[in-house]
Amino acid sequence: TTKIAVFASGSGSNFQAIQEAIAHGEVNANIELVITDNPGAFVVTRANNFGIPVLELAPKTYENKAAYEAKIIEYLKEKDVEWVVLAGYMRLVGENLLAAYENRIINIHPSLLPSFPGKDAIGQAMAHGVKVTGVTVHYVDAGMDTGTIIAQGAVDVIEGDREGTEARVHTLEHALYTSTLKQLFEQ
Ligand code: GAR
Repeated sequence: TTKIAVFASGSGSNFQAIQEAIAHGEVNANIELVITDNPGAFVVTRANNFGIPVLELAPKTYENKAAYEAKIIEYLKEKDVEWVVLAGYMRLVGENLLAAYENRIINIHPSLLPSFPGKDAIGQAMAHGVKVTGVTVHYVDAGMDTGTIIAQGAVDVIEGDREGTEARVHTLEHALYTSTLKQLFEQ
């Protein structure tokens, strides 16, 4: 059983999908810790509901990114975390954390990378008028949504239907992230 930490900044629907897949025996992992850079985010409520420890850290209260991530690394080591799973964590990972978990940090992004990296990828795709967008799971490197791609899936964009497109993207995210984690932690 692989010990993982999930990092999230917002709602945490991907966190919840992962935890449910673990609870159903589909993914051979255990979420030791949820870390958020956004104290009070809804992911905190979700983690509490599952009884999973949550660390709420406000980056602004640290001198710099290195100090913020040093605190994170300390908690990850204390919990013997082996893999870091980013799920809506809206922040670049710094060099110390990357070095501590080399090739052991993955992310999900709501577009077919390398198209539409960064924030509001679904809005970017719709504004561009693409007919197909999707979801990417990838290894994390120092860039913004630039690491080696592990898995992708496509979603049709219906013009003017942001809500429906968003809903289909999120549904695919939950399925693609859990199936990717299942494979990664099987070996
Ligand atoms: C997800 O759509 C995730 O792919 C995206 O944030 C959302 C978080 O939703 N991440 C990024 O855009 C990263 N660049 P959630 O909090 O409900 O899981």
